[in-house]
Amino acid sequence: MDKLVIEGGSALSGTVRVSGAKNASLPALAASLLTGDELRLDNVPDVRDVSTLLQLLSDLGCRAERLGRHRWALSTTKILSHEAPWELVRKMRASVLVLGPLVARHGHARVSLPGGCAIGARPIDRHLDGLERLGAEIKLEHGYIEARADRLRGAEVTFEDATVTGTENVMMAACLARGTTVLRNAAREPEVVDLAQLLITMGARIDGHGTRTIIIEGVDELHGAEHAIIADRIEAGTLLIAAAITGGRVTLEGVEPAHLEAVLARLRQVGLELECGKRWMRLGNGRPLRAHDMVTEPYPGFPTDLQAQYMVLMTQAGGVSRISEQIFEHRFMHVPELERMGAAIALSGHVATIEGPTPLTGAEVTASDLRASACLVLAGLAARGTTVVHRVYHLDRGYEQLESKLAALGARIERMR
Ligand code: EPU
Repeated sequence: MDKLVIEGGSALSGTVRVSGAKNASLPALAASLLTGDELRLDNVPDVRDVSTLLQLLSDLGCRAERLGRHRWALSTTKILSHEAPWELVRKMRASVLVLGPLVARHGHARVSLPGGCAIGARPIDRHLDGLERLGAEIKLEHGYIEARADRLRGAEVTFEDATVTGTENVMMAACLARGTTVLRNAAREPEVVDLAQLLITMGARIDGHGTRTIIIEGVDELHGAEHAIIADRIEAGTLLIAAAITGGRVTLEGVEPAHLEAVLARLRQVGLELECGKRWMRLGNGRPLRAHDMVTEPYPGFPTDLQAQYMVLMTQAGGVSRISEQIFEHRFMHVPELERMGAAIALSGHVATIEGPTPLTGAEVTASDLRASACLVLAGLAARGTTVVHRVYHLDRGYEQLESKLAALGARIERMR
């Protein structure tokens, strides 16, 4: 199993290009099931979750041709299977994104229930309620969701609480429903907006994406399209924090600063200098770092996917900070590992209280999920001595060669097999 070996203490410096967003690519790939025509997607990151979804799509009958490292042509002229099996959904919950497209275009889907995962229970009841409102008949049997519909019909769907992939799933399904669908309390994440833009290019009639109310006028069919995926705001935030904790300076290219407003505002409060322009941002030296509280929230709030990385930053900032995790119930699995490296963190329910600055020292640590892995890598960069991060397959799910990007910025980091 691969591991990352990091010698801490080098200040990062240089310029790096941010990859395409994993969480925008997954729904975009699933959208290929909505049409028999070819869909061309560019800026798709070369990460394991993308390969997992491509494997599922291929089992369902999608022909995926790689046109370049980040460029794919997908066409699903004929559906060969309606099933997303347990082995795949277990590996990646986002496999559930095939549910809406399959039931909308093919009238039938059989998708394994995802079950729990390291960061929380993560049910999909909001996806299912939404599809039921559109007329799908849904049964749960043998651990699988069976969804059937002759033709979905537009409806009012109010999400009890916002859900990112739930909004994406129901929005994709509603594109092919008869009549108008109104999604209330919809997720506003840039990844949802990117998907809406792709669907519009495919012939869908969608309005209000990026707000809490999305209106979709169903059409009889969608057609092929070309689309470039947005940059990964979470990778961008991870790289900024990596530079910040090492006292470095980096420039990120290909990124949309507007997608990171809450993060940039918080980093400025912490004392970091940031400059932004059209599709770039630059972090200057901003020591000393000051502790600042943070609460994770749905977009446009501070993203839960950067909570673990922000926590490492707070271990290096002067003062006491409180981090409140509002999205997932078990997303503090990195805390015991950070403590082993010397961090002073007290956990109470959804709140972590961090006292800083504490010098970190290198240790053997184990990654538990994607963002926790990134946090441990960052801790290794800030620590004195050698850190070995085990189970980096978690990291590979969502970061495209993070270690190569960090090494190009001067980090001493190596993958060992
Ligand atoms: N929830 C329910 N019922 C539902 C759906 C969600 O109770 O039907 C709960 C979840 O358990 C969670 C909260 O609502 O506590 C928010 O979940 P949401 O549905 O918004 O999350 P998701 O769509 O499963 C996406 C990202 C996650 C990211 C979250 C929050 C993708 C593929 N995944 O997950 O990304 O953390 O939104 O922003 O888009 C990651 O990349 O590391 C990652 C976990």
